[in-house]
Amino acid sequence: MEIPTKYNFSLSRQPIAMHILHVVGARPNFMKAAPVLAALAGYKGVRQTLIHTGQHYDANMSDIFFEQLDMPAPDLDLGVGSGSHARQTAEIITRFEPVVTDPKPSLVLVYGDVNSTMAAAIVCSKLLIPVGHVEAGLRSGDRSMPEEINRLITDQLSDLLFTPSPDGDENLLREGIDPGKIHRVGNVMIDTLVRLLPRSAAHLPVGLPERYMLVTLHRPSNVDDLPWLSSLLTGLAELGRELAMDVVFPLHPRTRQRLSGLDLPAFPGNDFHLLDPQPYLSFLALQQAAALVITDSGGVQEETSYLGVPCFTMRENTERPVTVAMGTNHLIGRDVGRLRTEVSRIGDGEKKLPLPIPLWDGHAAERIAHVVTEWFREK
Ligand code: UD1
Repeated sequence: MEIPTKYNFSLSRQPIAMHILHVVGARPNFMKAAPVLAALAGYKGVRQTLIHTGQHYDANMSDIFFEQLDMPAPDLDLGVGSGSHARQTAEIITRFEPVVTDPKPSLVLVYGDVNSTMAAAIVCSKLLIPVGHVEAGLRSGDRSMPEEINRLITDQLSDLLFTPSPDGDENLLREGIDPGKIHRVGNVMIDTLVRLLPRSAAHLPVGLPERYMLVTLHRPSNVDDLPWLSSLLTGLAELGRELAMDVVFPLHPRTRQRLSGLDLPAFPGNDFHLLDPQPYLSFLALQQAAALVITDSGGVQEETSYLGVPCFTMRENTERPVTVAMGTNHLIGRDVGRLRTEVSRIGDGEKKLPLPIPLWDGHAAERIAHVVTEWFREK
């Protein structure tokens, strides 16, 4: 894979009068925005505003991340909260519009693929405010996932598209995006991981066994289908017994709610450790110390690949194919039998050895800051 050469960091660092407004809303946005805010703070004359939509609002889904990631407190919290997709998106659109109407910022940066990302992009495009999308171009090809719709719409409406890997560029080109708007900068989530990994070990939750499998599940396709969720949990308990490993399972609020409607299978011994949602540093430590990770999260596929920890993704598709091709990710689908087969291969010594993924190097946000400021100077 070729490393972009168009970023010449020796270019001008003259002060510029630019106002950048960042929009975050849900847990996975925070670790992506933090390094970009920090990188842009190094540019004289760049004013930054941080807007939290309030899509995630529990302290352990939001506040603790700001603290641990050393992020400034949001300048404004729109307080939208939960709701159906239509209601949540409409609330964000309604409450965000007056924030950017007068005066208009020079650029709005949006992150990832959550409802807040798409809603902010729609508002800006109607007001002719330029939008930059961080983590552009990812595609699962599965339009039954709300995130895929958010990705497609946000990318179509963006003026600057920052991709983490070559598949992102290819997807955007196939969809007719002007190549001049596409900037392959690498993975900002890995910037945060690289910075905070040295601090994380001290945050490993206490009282856990030395060998465990870490589980995270929150996608509607896994947790809203109760018969499937029940058979998956039974499968995990059996797998734990076979491998003589406990299961450590931090619960997303949606998952906790669904589990309360289930007769949980009997887990002999103390096999399952059901935890609250974990702060960033604790979850990073949990990933690093895990024997293996079973997930349906996008970010976890990336983080385990970087850490070299085997990852088994309980989804039929992934918008992050580079983690399968070069990282430690195995795409399992909704199939407990396949999970057991693939996990047992690791036990037989067939562990995937991750290759370094180009530009997942801790410097993606610096590249974004450079592109953004040069784009503004040239406008
Ligand atoms: C959202 C994102 C998803 C991302 C996930 C990370 C969309 C469409 N989905 O999904 O891509 O992987 O965040 O967590 O934007 N809840 C709380 N407290 C909170 C937030 C949510 O209790 O602070 C509960 C509510 O019951 C809510 C449910 O969780 O209805 C789902 O929250 P929501 O923001 O709608 O979507 P997520 O499933 O978190």
